[in-house]
Amino acid sequence: MEAYFQSNDHQFELYLGDATEVMSSLCKKCDVVFADPPYFLSRNQSIKINGEWKNFEKGEWDRVTDLDNINRFNKEWLTVCRDVLKDSGTIWISGTYHNIFSVATCLVELGFKVLNIIVWQKSDAKPTLSRNYFNYTAEYIVWARKSEKIPHFFNCDLMEQINGGARMADVWRIPFISSWEMKLGKHPTQKPLRLLYRIILASTKEGETILDPFAGSCTTGVAANLLGRKFIGIDQSREFLDYGIRRKYEIEDSVKSDWILKKMSENPEEVMVMVNHARPNLYNKMVETGICYLRAGDSKGSLLVTPGFERLNYVLLHTNGENAQLFKLKTKGHFQIWTRETLQQYGFDPRNAAYYVVLHFDPTKPIPLKHYPNLKEDKYTFKAKVKPLSEFLGIK
Ligand SMILES: C[S@@+](CC[C@H](N)C(=O)[O-])C[C@H]1O[C@@H](n2cnc3c(N)ncnc32)[C@H](O)[C@@H]1O
Repeated sequence: MEAYFQSNDHQFELYLGDATEVMSSLCKKCDVVFADPPYFLSRNQSIKINGEWKNFEKGEWDRVTDLDNINRFNKEWLTVCRDVLKDSGTIWISGTYHNIFSVATCLVELGFKVLNIIVWQKSDAKPTLSRNYFNYTAEYIVWARKSEKIPHFFNCDLMEQINGGARMADVWRIPFISSWEMKLGKHPTQKPLRLLYRIILASTKEGETILDPFAGSCTTGVAANLLGRKFIGIDQSREFLDYGIRRKYEIEDSVKSDWILKKMSENPEEVMVMVNHARPNLYNKMVETGICYLRAGDSKGSLLVTPGFERLNYVLLHTNGENAQLFKLKTKGHFQIWTRETLQQYGFDPRNAAYYVVLHFDPTKPIPLKHYPNLKEDKYTFKAKVKPLSEFLGIK
């Protein structure tokens, strides 16, 4: 079958047509599949909200149907999908209660081994209209491997790093798509890049191939290519694929791709690092005592607590951008305010303020920096900053 689109770098390939038919004719194998199939929840019904009629219709492809039809559809595409997946490959499938039980049953019947059911909790979910239920805030993503016996790839260390040093759980709090992801078009069920970022990093290596049989606006492809993975996408809608192509062209511009990669890797709940410059003597004293301090505010004495303090779990010391060392705080999100006199009791000689923010860290175990940060930014190099941990861990 001829590709609908092939990018110049050969990293992004699209097919227009029915997922099952296209996959049956594909001669290639992929390492991982991410599938966001129809959930079958569109009723083409309008609901009156605050006096206004609203329609939550996604499209004909998402029309509510009976369980037999849902099962038949899922069994069909999953059967061929299993054939295009390498023996050591894994598959991720998203859904809600409308389709996810059918998907999980089909997977087991076809010989897949279920590894996890991820709960994606939308951290910014709006209140559910009906007051007859709990608020709907989650979608579910089944992660399964092709074979019961053949081991799969899971980058547990990287997930732990992203999670600030703790094992990552199967409940992910990630916000819904933001306006910066919708600049080039619209898709009624577009997934956030941040979700695909985590899925791809967890289950693939650089250079591997990811297939998305219900690609829509090609969120999977954009995330895959930004992370150095190849992408094959299928969708029956030309309009959606064309939107995906515009998104691919956008990331061919290196300034835009850097920006999107940075946004995509941001985790609004991520663990943060206090980046603090100290001249050599002070640096050594801080490492000796496990105490890092910085002025608590401006010259008028008002306290400065920037957003992210509550997620602070590391301190990174450096001198003029050199000799950077990362240490874990003794207690996450915890800091004290000390007077100059208290710091003097610990052998420090602070000069320019009456009060200081004090962080206690474990100086005995510096954490290896996988990505040496560029700390000589500009005139603000010496100013203490709160930064996300991922900036220092070299994610790939
Ligand atoms: C839930 S959406 C996927 C959205 C996508 N993850 C994104 O971020 O844009 C499902 C997509 O599957 C496509 N679709 C539905 N039935 C299909 C089929 N049988 N074969 C191929 N594509 C299909 C729809 O056109 C729709 O774009």
